[in-house]
Amino acid sequence: MPVLLFWEKTLDLSLKDRVAIISGGNKGLGAASAFMLAAEGAKVFLTARNEEDLEKTKSAIASKHRVEVGYIAADITNDDAGDKIVEAALDKFGRIDIVVNGAGAARGGEFLAIENAVWRDAFELKFLGAVKLIRAVLPHMRTQKYGRIVNIIGMFGREPAKQALPASAVNAAFLALNKGLSQQYGGDGIFVNAVDPGPTKSERILRLFSDMAKAKGVTPEELEAGFRQQIPIGRLGELDEVARIVTFLASDASGNVNGTVVAVDGGMTKGLF
Ligand SMILES: NC(=O)c1ccc[n+]([C@@H]2O[C@H](COP(=O)([O-])OP(=O)(O)OC[C@H]3O[C@@H](n4cnc5c(N)ncnc54)[C@H](OP(=O)(O)O)[C@@H]3O)[C@@H](O)[C@H]2O)c1
Repeated sequence: MPVLLFWEKTLDLSLKDRVAIISGGNKGLGAASAFMLAAEGAKVFLTARNEEDLEKTKSAIASKHRVEVGYIAADITNDDAGDKIVEAALDKFGRIDIVVNGAGAARGGEFLAIENAVWRDAFELKFLGAVKLIRAVLPHMRTQKYGRIVNIIGMFGREPAKQALPASAVNAAFLALNKGLSQQYGGDGIFVNAVDPGPTKSERILRLFSDMAKAKGVTPEELEAGFRQQIPIGRLGELDEVARIVTFLASDASGNVNGTVVAVDGGMTKGLF
């Protein structure tokens, strides 16, 4: 292949026919990431629990982008979930190039009112869920000497929120995993990166806002206005804004980027690192 000089290169995502597993792929940030990857030509394999939502998202992606889409309904808190998901994706597509970890949610509240089960659930779902999926896919990626892992984490990992300590702790642990894996497997051609969304308009967040508003006796609009004041650009994020960064990190255009975290939060994170 002729060597291209840098001024001859373009932002080439090279995602056509790559195969991506997306956990949390039936809604929210996971589904948005699956749509964006498919828009760039990747074949996508969705996983989450709700089969009806998986089927709807699959049909929507397949009819819009004319790429192959597969899915498996699985509860990622089950011990064998990672192996099952990877096996099903390999059965469908024969290879896996990309994993996007988008499954997650954690309850919050005042520290003294948070029971052990809430902490356990938070870690079981988002942190251990990602560990299982990554552990199941790594041997395959090492053999092919290629892999892109993108973890959707969240800004509370770097800046804990006092009313959301389980989510903050899970995200901090996830950041450590993200960095550690990038160091361990970069030499195998497996790049591991993360996206830190700020408040982004998924159904879950809008539902959360509506519940919080009810509890505080204000309208969801008034509550949202309070959040907007904390965001330098003055608005919540859109799903596709996170999905675009996920897609970039999942692509070859991200080149030398490994072990990093990209904040997609309108500048809300204040810390330097
Ligand atoms: N939206 C934001 O503002 C924001 C900000 C920072 C970080 N994040 C992070 O981004 C990720 C996605 O959040 P989102 O807002 O897009 O939420 P969402 O729309 O509720 O998506 C969560 C996904 O996880 C799946 N899931 C939940 N429990 C599962 C289980 N036990 N097994 C397998 N899948 C499961 C859900 O599908 P099923 O229910 O069908 O299983 C769904 O697809 C989360 O980790 C969240 O912490 C979001």
